[in-house]
Amino acid sequence: MRMKPFRIEQYFAKHEFSAKYLLSSSDAESRTIQDVLDLEPGSHERLLQHWCGYTESPGAPWLRSTVAAIYKNIAPEQVLVPSCAEEGILVVYHAMVGPEDHVVVETPCFESGLEVARSTGAEVSEWRRKAEDGWSHNLDALRKLIRPNTRMIYITTPHHPTGLLMPRQVFEEVIELCRKHRILLFCDEVFRELEHDPGMRLPAACDVYENAVSLGSMSKTYGLPGLRLGWLVSRNPSVIQRCLDFRFYTTICSSAPSEFLTDVALRHRQVLIQRNLGILRRNLSLLEAFFAERSDLFEWVKPNASPMCFVRFKPQRDVAQFLRRTPPHSFRVRTREYAGGASATELLPGIKVLEKHKSGIRAKRTSGTTSESCQAKLTVSKSCDCEMVRKGILSTRPPNSGASEFSALFALSEAVSFLQIRHDGA
Ligand SMILES: Cc1ncc(COP(=O)(O)O)c(C=O)c1O
Repeated sequence: MRMKPFRIEQYFAKHEFSAKYLLSSSDAESRTIQDVLDLEPGSHERLLQHWCGYTESPGAPWLRSTVAAIYKNIAPEQVLVPSCAEEGILVVYHAMVGPEDHVVVETPCFESGLEVARSTGAEVSEWRRKAEDGWSHNLDALRKLIRPNTRMIYITTPHHPTGLLMPRQVFEEVIELCRKHRILLFCDEVFRELEHDPGMRLPAACDVYENAVSLGSMSKTYGLPGLRLGWLVSRNPSVIQRCLDFRFYTTICSSAPSEFLTDVALRHRQVLIQRNLGILRRNLSLLEAFFAERSDLFEWVKPNASPMCFVRFKPQRDVAQFLRRTPPHSFRVRTREYAGGASATELLPGIKVLEKHKSGIRAKRTSGTTSESCQAKLTVSKSCDCEMVRKGILSTRPPNSGASEFSALFALSEAVSFLQIRHDGA
């Protein structure tokens, strides 16, 4: 198995835990273990008593029942519980696809959706969606990609990185196409149940197509990535069996405490969903106002699902170069200091970069190089809503899955936070 470097994860590994304001993650705001246990009286005591041995490889039976209840037509034995969706992607591709096969991948996508497919040795074609077409789906293009040995189609809905739902009619036609050509549909649904309007929710692929596998996760919609737990669901028993057989070589079974906590969280998932939707809706309107005001700099298609959106930073085409030139730490500033006055050592380097790359933006240091003068220029209202800043809906991506022409605001994320604070508080 040959894997290309996972660029986005490498980028995260470098910056995720040092960038002050992370606007580039795709998960909803996380919670503490205490918050999860508070969802259900008695669960704290039960967690302390929970057996910390190996768990059952397909997943604890009670957890498989809880997962099955998310779906309409699914029995517990049609669920497999890998340790996170990322493991699910590895397991499905390597269990189901080989060098003699052809796979179609909807792109742009989460990088492993494409690269793990390639690592199987299969021939991989991209079903590309483009910004200039408003990210629409070209079904004719998909039809043309299908070959006699097309074994699998991988799609993501709600979609990473655009935050857009696949239109229902497109979803249905993809399924019809798969059914006609006996193709396994691998549907990455890790953002499902975070549609901004729940009425727009699509059925899960596993519910409506007998040869589909749906991928779910605790990480995104429910905001609990630290549990490292996901699930694969299929009504095709050989898919579950083959994935299980492969899984014996990856993690054998999931973490016992995570299974327990996932079970509690999923049984109360509506509480988590409502909270996350609340944050998301508030921030989305802030963001919409911000992009409307700065349409000279930013371009986007407003998302309708997930906590993500995909934004183009107009002045900069060469994203990789931009990222190299503007390391995120240039923008490191502290909210505490904003509220009480900024320190020159923290702010000045950031402002300089802003001035250089984004002339015309409000964040201008007009005079003064001392901490006092900075304080005067940059103090913002303490009442500003920093929710979006703490874990916003703005997803900014480095060149990912071939979408290199598209803006990666990664390095800018703290600058955007900064601007958002100004915008909101000014
Ligand atoms: C579309 C998509 N699928 C799968 C994953 C992996 O999720 P997990 O944290 O459960 O491994 C991600 C993570 O960003 C993702 O965006």
